[in-house]
Amino acid sequence: MESPATPQFIEEIYFKRFKREEPATVRSLKEIIAGSKVNKEKKKKEKEQKRKERSIYATRLEAVIKAMETIFESVPYGIDHTMKVLDNARQIITEEKTERLKYGVIIELAAVLHDIGAIEAQRKHGSMEGHFQELEGVPIAAEIMQEQNYEQSIIDRVCYIVGNHHTPENINGIDFQILWEADLIENMQIMDCIQNEAALKQFVAGNFKTQAGKNLALNRYR
Ligand SMILES: [Fe+2]
Repeated sequence: MESPATPQFIEEIYFKRFKREEPATVRSLKEIIAGSKVNKEKKKKEKEQKRKERSIYATRLEAVIKAMETIFESVPYGIDHTMKVLDNARQIITEEKTERLKYGVIIELAAVLHDIGAIEAQRKHGSMEGHFQELEGVPIAAEIMQEQNYEQSIIDRVCYIVGNHHTPENINGIDFQILWEADLIENMQIMDCIQNEAALKQFVAGNFKTQAGKNLALNRYR
């Protein structure tokens, strides 16, 4: 073997490492530097684009929260419950590492709007029973999101969740599952399952799927 640092030595160790005599694509140092600059620039632009999207969604969500607060003006419990569900949902999204841009927007909207039909259900049907809330919630949620120019695919998905949020057999995705768990954690306050540890564990095992949701429920009521 040649002594280190001679061209032959470098050829030898290159061959040993890559099992070929030269790179598949030969680029000059200048080209490599230019390529890495282009890549850096591309990544910077992508990061900036994501930051802009997050900021737009945050502004829109604020407007949706205001609309929800207006509807629940006469029932402060509705606002309080909704904001707690939103908080639970955010904790689950973060801990589960749910893809924020893909599902976060939908889950946060579903959390803010899930009970939005309650007041109208009471007014129209004299009852806040789950089915009436689902029925009346969909058009109200759609209108609020349309006012904020959300994409139709987002509106459709959130409306599906709002329109089924009392019907666990219709859960068909991680976004709906997280909303369901975030809401259930609040609703468990008035359930018998929190009376003893065995009942609590059994209830959580049977009704929760995400580890973050399970932990949140157990930590709250244990
Ligand atoms: Fe709720």
